[in-house]
Order: sequence, then structure tokens, then C-alpha cells
Amino acid sequence: MKHEKYQLLTEQIKALIEGETNEVAVMANIAAAIHETMGFWWTGFYRVMPKVGSDEKELVLGPFQGPVACMHIPFGRGVCGTAWERRATIVVPDVEQFPGHIACSSLSRSEIVVPVFSTAGEVVAVLDIDSKELATFDDTDRQYLETICQLVSNIVLPHHHIEYHHQDEANGKADGAEI
Ligand code: SME
Repeated sequence: MKHEKYQLLTEQIKALIEGETNEVAVMANIAAAIHETMGFWWTGFYRVMPKVGSDEKELVLGPFQGPVACMHIPFGRGVCGTAWERRATIVVPDVEQFPGHIACSSLSRSEIVVPVFSTAGEVVAVLDIDSKELATFDDTDRQYLETICQLVSNIVLPHHHIEYHHQDEANGKADGAEI
């Protein structure tokens, strides 16, 4: 049963990440735990990062399990960029019916993308999961995956502030604007 699997998974993830403060380590183990337990086709995070040579931000491929995937996704593009823009989970029963869907793998048939919010309420990453079957994801997936993404929130914020500060310094800006 999906419900029971997710309950155990959520408890496993809480135990796994307890006391850990590195966001990449946390995202890596969460992606692995979800992927192994649920048997999805592709499970991973895209992180909101400064776009090199620009003041804009973009989604950059983060820790994941599954086949190789596209590495950069602009704001508002694909399911991932749209979830970032809307600040909301998107469930796609059939990727061919989603305008602008980015096909990293031609085998992906359905998808769910869940935003990860910082404690300040900004989208700092998205969790993207693909399935080789149509209509794999429903409200049960949405609820549990949103809970799992909330567990990441407390860890992500300070690191992103630091990364942005460093990036701004690298670009020669003195103010180090925060996201
Ligand atoms: N399908 C996603 C792109 C990422 S891959 O599925 C791993 C999208 O449309 O944003």
C-alpha cells in the first residue's frame, strides 16, 4: 500500500537527516530513500542557483537517482520551472499533455514536482519525480512528498544565503544581496 510505504519512508527520512546540516547530503539521501522505497524511474532535486554571468536565477540539477538528466532549467519552463514560478506542487498525469514539458527521458510518462521552501518562504529547490507509467501520482504522493520537502526547509536556508553572498562577491558586488 502506497500510504503505508510513505509513512515508513517519512519516518526513515526523519531519522536519516536528524542532525545533518549539509543540504546536498540531505537531498542525496532523501532522493535515494524515495527512489529505492517507491521504485520510481527518476527521483531528484533541482536547486535554485545564481545563473553564471547573469543576475537571474535558474534551476540546476542537484542530487538525484536515475538516468542522466538536463542540468539547467529556466524559471517558468517545464514542469520544474513552472512549479517554481507557481510556488505550488504540480501533478502531471500525462507529460505529453503538459505544454512545455522538458523531456529528459523519452520513457517518462507522468511526473510530480514539489517546491522546497526556505523558512523565509522562498523556493530554494524543487523535488522532481518521474514515472514510466501514466498517472502514477495522486494526492497521497503530493501530501507525503510535501511533508518530506518541508523537512528539508530548515536545512537549506543558511547555505543558500552563504552561496548567494559568495556568488555576489565573485561578481564584484559589495552588497551580497540575499535571495
Ligand atoms: N520533466 C522536467 C525536467 C526534468 S526531468 O524530468 C528529470 C520538466 O519538465 O521540468
